Amino acid sequence: MPERPYVIDEMISAKAIAARLEELCREITAEFRDTDKLVVVGLLRGSFVFIADLVRELDLPIEVDFLEASSYGDSTESSREVRILKDLRGAIEGRDVLVVEDIVDTGYTLRHVLGLLRSRKPARMKSIALLDKPSRREVDIRADWIGFEIPDEFVVGYGIDFAQRNRNLPYIGKVRFTP
Ligand code: IMP
Repeated sequence: MPERPYVIDEMISAKAIAARLEELCREITAEFRDTDKLVVVGLLRGSFVFIADLVRELDLPIEVDFLEASSYGDSTESSREVRILKDLRGAIEGRDVLVVEDIVDTGYTLRHVLGLLRSRKPARMKSIALLDKPSRREVDIRADWIGFEIPDEFVVGYGIDFAQRNRNLPYIGKVRFTP
């Protein structure tokens, strides 16, 4: 539970997210049109709402799997060391893979996960992030598709948490600490 009081200011509405998702899914469907071997890999826990909406917009035969990497814990600061807390259930060798991330911030998590999955020799691997904070980047990595670029703000909602709270907001909001 967060220790300091805060309020949430809406930044991206549920309607704007849905409209952007429709655009992105048209592109993703075109990219993977030729395959029946696509595994959509959600990074837990932050991407669970995003992946649920995303797969329902994909007009493709897919499988869904999940991977959990360590994140911020209860703070708003990123840790540079990434650990895998829960691995995929299925093998991805020779499969097409779409990795679904909630936010790319410093970039350490996405770099680590893509490196790990690449070592398992998928046929093709692409990534999508709902949000990107390019000004925070510490390693050279970018998702193939990005929903929205946002400034250096701590955000919550649409699956994204602050100390496990606020994942159930239907929109993306920024956290503002109150005195
Ligand atoms: P990175 O390794 O620094 O790129 O961090 C990626 C992870 O940190 C994301 O998957 C989120 O779980 C978490 N994260 C980054 N920015 C935020 C934020 O603004 N709110 C909540 N979680 C965040």
